[in-house]
Amino acid sequence: MAQFDLIVIGAGPGGYVCAIRAAQLGLKVACVEGRETLGGTCLNVGCIPSKALLHATHMLHEAEHNFAEMGIGGVKPKVDWKKMQAYKDDVIGQNTKGIEFLFKKNKVEWLKGWASIPEAGKVKVGDEVHEAKNIVIASGSEPSSLPGVEVDEKVVVTSTGALSLGRPPGNVMVIGGGVIGLEMGSIFARLGAKVTVIEYLDRLIPGNDAEVAKTFQRILKKQGIEFILGAAVQATEVKRNKATVTYRLRKDDSEHKLEADCVLVATGRRPFTEGLGLKELGIETTRGGQIKTDRHYATSVRGVYAIGDAIAGPMLAHKAEDEGMAVAEILAGQAGHVNYGVIPGVIYTHPEVASVGETEETLKEAGRAYKVGKFSFMGNGRAKANFAADGFVKILADKETDRILGAHIIGPMAGDLIHEICVAMEFGAAAEDLARTCHAHPTYSEAVREAALACGDGPIHA
Ligand code: NAI
Repeated sequence: MAQFDLIVIGAGPGGYVCAIRAAQLGLKVACVEGRETLGGTCLNVGCIPSKALLHATHMLHEAEHNFAEMGIGGVKPKVDWKKMQAYKDDVIGQNTKGIEFLFKKNKVEWLKGWASIPEAGKVKVGDEVHEAKNIVIASGSEPSSLPGVEVDEKVVVTSTGALSLGRPPGNVMVIGGGVIGLEMGSIFARLGAKVTVIEYLDRLIPGNDAEVAKTFQRILKKQGIEFILGAAVQATEVKRNKATVTYRLRKDDSEHKLEADCVLVATGRRPFTEGLGLKELGIETTRGGQIKTDRHYATSVRGVYAIGDAIAGPMLAHKAEDEGMAVAEILAGQAGHVNYGVIPGVIYTHPEVASVGETEETLKEAGRAYKVGKFSFMGNGRAKANFAADGFVKILADKETDRILGAHIIGPMAGDLIHEICVAMEFGAAAEDLARTCHAHPTYSEAVREAALACGDGPIHA
């Protein structure tokens, strides 16, 4: 029986980062992972493969739509689906092997198999029981199911099946106008599929800025994606490789049916904690299955901690990573901490959507006085040159103090631009601090500065 300071359960972004950080801080660490490769959902069937397909299909879109205008002509691009899948798989392989290398470098032992916790201080993997002073559960999440909808990962798929279809579908119904639905929907639309998104609410990407959501819908519609909003999916039925989706419009309760050769179920995810033995151990969970933790990620059982998608908060890889680092530091006797007020969210479509901090909706709800600085990419020279002028930057600042409270960007490289604002927020900056910072010309980031100027005396290029 091996004795460890820490055993981390799960090698996704939360778990592997936690294991590496703890090892760097001098702890003897093992990480249990049952998949054949490290990296969890994110690297194997989530963030990384979807970004590869988003990149490839964006290149295709550029070639089909913008090359001619820039004076590049000639051969019409053709999709070799097998090769595109191989490229995606190669990207996954490079990343998962990279973590294996980091484990070796940092002397983190990979315990291969699925873990259970028979009692505090013990982790069972296969027939072996390992002892650990502390245990961190980083077991992640799985797609949540929808009543009446049976996933077969061939015709009715989750994001996992959607990333590895045998061939690009001709007609796709996407259930859920959230992050997964719109990223995967974009991929299929760029490959030439007819894509229809059915969303329960009257808007897309709930929780994001409402103005961004509206602009986003308009731009995606221009890219050929259809939307049915305010519609609840009731059931799907598969016959001879075709699916019929039945949904009800909420405004008049009328029932409708649509046919598709692929249905993507993207209606959220739920914590994955199966087989860990939480109940037997006495670990408290919420009704939604999230493990209850305190500020230091401690569960109701001494010596057992939990982080990432398995606990409360946004289901984001980088939130899990930060919690992984924080709990490792806490276990090493340091003061690990995550600032939940500054966790960016990014949707990797084209254009990208990025947000951080408060929205106008949350500020109104809290009765806080705020001002809005907005700048359109139409006024940004670089965006114009790159066919990327659709969208805007919106900064929300405290009306009295000018302190930045949140930001919402739809536009080119929004997912990178947002970090300038994240750093500013971490340092408690005012909009004026951003506005007075020299920004290189011509860059997209000038739009961020202009939005900051718009919080004060006004932007220059609008
Ligand atoms: P989501 O919560 O983002 O969106 C689900 C959508 O489905 C919501 O808009 C909801 O109103 C709708 N919906 C629920 N039931 C429905 C029904 N019966 N009929 C029609 N619509 C219905 O969840 P999603 O997109 O599945 O993503 C899961 C998680 O993974 C999220 O927490 C997301 O943040 C994360 N993720 C993050 C990515 C990123 O950071 N770029 C990429 C992919 C996933």
